[in-house]
Amino acid sequence: MGDKLKIGVIGVGSISEHHIKSYLNNKEVVLHAFCDSNEARVKQKAEKHGVPNTYTDYRDLLADPEIDAVSICTWNNSHAPISIAALDAGKHVLVEKPLCKTVEEAYQVQEAVKRSGKVLQVGFVRRFGTNTEVLKTFLDNGDLGEIYYAKATCIRRLGNPGGWFSDVERSGGGPLIDLGVHFIDLCWYLMGKPKVKTISGSTFKRLGNRSNVRNLNFYKASDYNAEHNDVEDLASAFIRFENGATLTVDVSFTLHAKKDEVSVKLYGDKGGAEVEPEFSIVSEKHNTILNITPQINQVGFDFARGFQEEINGFVSACFGRTETRSPVEDGIEVMKMLCGIYESARLGREVEL
Ligand SMILES: NC(=O)c1ccc[n+]([C@@H]2O[C@H](COP(=O)([O-])OP(=O)(O)OC[C@H]3O[C@@H](n4cnc5c(N)ncnc54)[C@H](O)[C@@H]3O)[C@@H](O)[C@H]2O)c1
Repeated sequence: MGDKLKIGVIGVGSISEHHIKSYLNNKEVVLHAFCDSNEARVKQKAEKHGVPNTYTDYRDLLADPEIDAVSICTWNNSHAPISIAALDAGKHVLVEKPLCKTVEEAYQVQEAVKRSGKVLQVGFVRRFGTNTEVLKTFLDNGDLGEIYYAKATCIRRLGNPGGWFSDVERSGGGPLIDLGVHFIDLCWYLMGKPKVKTISGSTFKRLGNRSNVRNLNFYKASDYNAEHNDVEDLASAFIRFENGATLTVDVSFTLHAKKDEVSVKLYGDKGGAEVEPEFSIVSEKHNTILNITPQINQVGFDFARGFQEEINGFVSACFGRTETRSPVEDGIEVMKMLCGIYESARLGREVEL
């Protein structure tokens, strides 16, 4: 590895733009190659960002000895195989969330991390938001006491992105694996990563993708196609941890809700906090309840800054200066929760981990 880290980006659809911009802002990095199975897209992206090498097969990109590290921004079904191939080719890996589709795959990725000795960071970008970072400082200093309850909601009233997102084979699931992954991880991380005991989940596929709805825009996959949809449109879950703490979560691609809603709340025995939609801390002093508003630039999650911090953290870990903030072990535990919720929903009863 030279003074600069040479980067390859695999999958150059929507989210790759955040990775690319953040790499371009990082002075220790050179963007060396892009890969996408869509040839026109990879050529256009490479031209836009002045990247010299393009590939349509990730194995060809991985065969380039000059590349030190890769970002994997492809569909979920390829996260594990590409991560394993990249690690075995001696590259450091930043893989988008979710780590993969199953717990078995997650363990296979961990094996590859162990045998390669390379860095693998899971794209839990919300761990890098300013709101999260500031709150973590308060939590680590015991200001909120012990967190015994957390609650996360991410409701889209209309927002099934279609294409691969709504094809369970390629995505692994619907809003739970796509959106729930962020919010479950965020709560679990801020709660101090307690061990999961039991999970009770339910999923619903009642409204379809509602591509019939007119005059209301929503987020769509790069290759939008509304024809195929076999993912859930709502998931809700109750997770009990071994330390007695609990987490409730509900997420949807579509629901007869009045408006979209994102909310992440944690409650401890000395104080509480709302991470989303607006960061605030609740406390009590001199027999008075205080609602505290931390003065930071953005009170909700700042995407651009979150991705920049995520990429900077990855680069620093690749140079061996710091440990990654979201290692494969955390990816495994989050996959256990996601798959546990799907399993509980399928069985119609609580499951024990
Ligand atoms: N961190 C976040 O907030 C966030 C937000 C959106 C998406 N994501 C994740 O990023 C990933 C990509 O999502 P997106 O919205 O950019 O999707 P997208 O469809 O816009 O882009 C994916 C790209 O990957 C390419 N691709 C798929 N499989 C490939 C393969 N095997 N080899 C080469 N190219 C391949 C596709 O052609 C496409 O161009 C997903 O895993 C998604 O969960 C993360």
